[in-house]
Amino acid sequence: MANLITSRRRRSSVSLTILQFIFFLVVIFSSSYLIAKEIENNTVSDSEMAVGKLTVNDDADLEGGGGFPSLDGMLHWAIGHSDPAKLKEAAQSVQNLSADELQMRQQELKEWVENSKMPSDTELMQTAIADLKNSSLSSEDRHRAFQELLLLVELIDNANDLEKLGGLAAVIQELDNSDIEIRITSAWILGKAGQNNPLVQKQIFQHGALLKLMKMVQSSSVEEGIKAMYAVSALSRNNVDGLELFFAGHGERLLQDIMSNSSIDIRLRRKSASLVADLAESLTESTSNPEHQFFSSRYFLKSVVHLVASSDFDLQEKALMAVKSLIKLRTTKALDFKDFCSLESVLERTREQLNQIGADELDRDLAIDMENLCKEVESLFRKKLEEAPTRDEL
Ligand SMILES: *[C@@H]1O[C@H](CO)[C@@H](O)[C@H](O)[C@H]1NC(C)=O
Ligand SMILES: *[C@@H]1O[C@H](CO)[C@@H](O)[C@H](O)[C@H]1NC(C)=O
Ligand SMILES: *[C@@H]1O[C@H](CO)[C@@H](O)[C@H](O)[C@H]1NC(C)=O
Repeated sequence: MANLITSRRRRSSVSLTILQFIFFLVVIFSSSYLIAKEIENNTVSDSEMAVGKLTVNDDADLEGGGGFPSLDGMLHWAIGHSDPAKLKEAAQSVQNLSADELQMRQQELKEWVENSKMPSDTELMQTAIADLKNSSLSSEDRHRAFQELLLLVELIDNANDLEKLGGLAAVIQELDNSDIEIRITSAWILGKAGQNNPLVQKQIFQHGALLKLMKMVQSSSVEEGIKAMYAVSALSRNNVDGLELFFAGHGERLLQDIMSNSSIDIRLRRKSASLVADLAESLTESTSNPEHQFFSSRYFLKSVVHLVASSDFDLQEKALMAVKSLIKLRTTKALDFKDFCSLESVLERTREQLNQIGADELDRDLAIDMENLCKEVESLFRKKLEEAPTRDEL
């Protein structure tokens, strides 16, 4: 076994050891034969093999809640950092093990872990941070350091240590790097570290990084804009200070510009609508600042309602969620929804469109959910309308 734990490069030997350890952990303990097979059959693509190509998807980012990434995501990352030939060999040999042999391997592994001094996460973080700050390293090595830090901050304890180790300041500084890949990964790290983590959120605010990330959302690069939006969302959701800073930086205008511009990438528009839904929901729950008017502009409301008529199912759903939260806000006006946004006819058209879906079962289920959402929005809207002052009183 020891011969498998060799490293290609001295500098990153620490993390390579960890990664190969992770690989064995995953393969042996979860008896992940499928994954082993995948490797054996070479169905893991070359691009995934390439160092630093992470394939963790965006939804996982949003829903992960700051825990470990999926085993799959981690495995693929480990694969990307390991020698393909060795991995293949290992995968084959694991598949052929009997139950007894497997148990023996597990015991061996346990002993190996106990005997080999595994570096602590703090040490790994220190190495990654030192490397990403070291401008005399090659660009490849620096990129690798960023990717390692990205993985490390998934763990809440590591995220909490980031400031103490000088990592936050370093990463925030890299938001200005001329290398777009580094800017993107930096935004990603901040979003990951800050997600559902009030301590880290506060530290990031103290560095003034939220405004910077909001500017980045407007980047001419779609990928950069998306990652920045991910970070902005992770930092301003469920955080009163984040909300204040977001609005102080005219975040509502930023979102409106994105939602109302159909030439902007659909993923960014979906993320914007989704953020509106969450922020409006926080505003309805927040008692600290009842006079917030930020989402009350009828032009803003129109930009959201307009998306309900989108041809993209996902965008449509997120827009409906946003409209639902916005209607619940006391500061929005029922008549704006009615007259200026023509909410009734938009909803009606949406429901007609939903009725035409039916062939595919999955689509039908989705359509039923959406239909229910439409009904919910409609009834909230009726209620708001009844409670609204009449035109004459305005
Ligand atoms: C694993 O078993 C298969 C057949 O069951 C055999 O063809 C293959 O050579 C074995 N691989 C190793 C590494 O022992
Ligand atoms: C930066 O990297 C170079 C090259 O690997 C190394 O010699 C040097 O010690 C590093 N500097 C710091 C401050 O870590
Ligand atoms: C819409 O977005 C495109 C692409 O980002 C941009 O070039 C254009 O100026 C925007 N239009 C408006 C009206 O903001």
